[in-house]
Amino acid sequence: MITENLNRPRAAIIGTGFCVPERVMTNYDLEKIVDTSDRWIVERTGIRERRIAADDVATSDIAYEAALKALEDAGIRAAELDLIIVATLTPDYLTPSTASLLQKRLGADRAAAFDLQSACSGFVYGAAVAAQFIENGFYKRILVIGAEILSKYINWEDRNTCVLFGDGAGAAVFGAAEDGSGILSCDLGSDGRGPEVLGIPGGGTRYPASEDTISRKVNRIHMDGRDVFRFAVKALPNTLKRSLEKAGMTADELAWIVPHQANIRIIEAASKRLAMPLERFIVNIERYGNISAASVPVALAEADAAGKFNKGDLIALAGFGAGLTWASCVVKWAK
Ligand code: ACO
Repeated sequence: MITENLNRPRAAIIGTGFCVPERVMTNYDLEKIVDTSDRWIVERTGIRERRIAADDVATSDIAYEAALKALEDAGIRAAELDLIIVATLTPDYLTPSTASLLQKRLGADRAAAFDLQSACSGFVYGAAVAAQFIENGFYKRILVIGAEILSKYINWEDRNTCVLFGDGAGAAVFGAAEDGSGILSCDLGSDGRGPEVLGIPGGGTRYPASEDTISRKVNRIHMDGRDVFRFAVKALPNTLKRSLEKAGMTADELAWIVPHQANIRIIEAASKRLAMPLERFIVNIERYGNISAASVPVALAEADAAGKFNKGDLIALAGFGAGLTWASCVVKWAK
């Protein structure tokens, strides 16, 4: 997927926003719940704290707040949106989609809406889908959101997973740009490895929710961390290399990389493999942990709000996660 034809519009990021729940759960709080330590978590993952949503907060609630900020940043009204895509593995309901709930709540009266499930790669998959609709002229303004409340799917007795995840939402408005800015190239993929490696096996049609699946915690996040780690240290640099190659660029031309925030050691490994200094990776894992589909857009929106990006900067976004999936894109910053 590459869009070299300048006569076609490109999908440019014209607004970003994010929302994280107020409640902070530190590693010290986790020490009281499972047999772990702040030292182990910081050394092995880079995470110091994460945000946890209140019991009565659902994914669409934080997605809504992130969307409002992104729309304000873009300077457009919800009614001007053509499409809303919500990337999430923790929707409010199995159906209707979280995107449809937001369409109504935002007042995006003429927008189509659907959810996209590609786990931690979801936001970048969503950006690639938005690019197709904008490049072929079908739509002009698309809101892509990555939003998760993973805390409701965490097995709080499993120290292997409960220390890793958090809640949050990030959003970006994509608009049709004719000045050469926007998404230049994308790379998407999946190897089809199932929930035995990473997933939430229960609650779907394979293992419908029942007293048995709930008591055995089959409806909670299950992960073979070492397997996913081995996958991720290759998948992240490899997908970035493919996106760069499709854009006809090399890593040293990038101003920033916004990677999925799963483990600081995975980001460090990517930095080495790409020979790109760690300082050029946007990293916020110490404060939010892994927020799956929200990790990339929260990091993007936070860095944008901090004024890190300049018009014309080349920025790569990259995710990897359950599926197992990977996704990356190279963006020329438009704002
Ligand atoms: N506190 C203390 N000890 C722990 C903890 C903990 N929280 N968790 C595991 N340990 C122990 C293990 O039990 C093991 O003990 P043992 O040697 O006695 O068996 C030891 O620490 C080492 O365990 P490893 O699994 O080898 O630890 P590792 O260094 O691999 O780190 C981790 C584990 C952090 C999960 C790492 O493998 C990882 O980051 N994996 C990738 C996760 C990821 O990228 N997920 C992304 C996708 S998520 C999504 O899509 C939803």
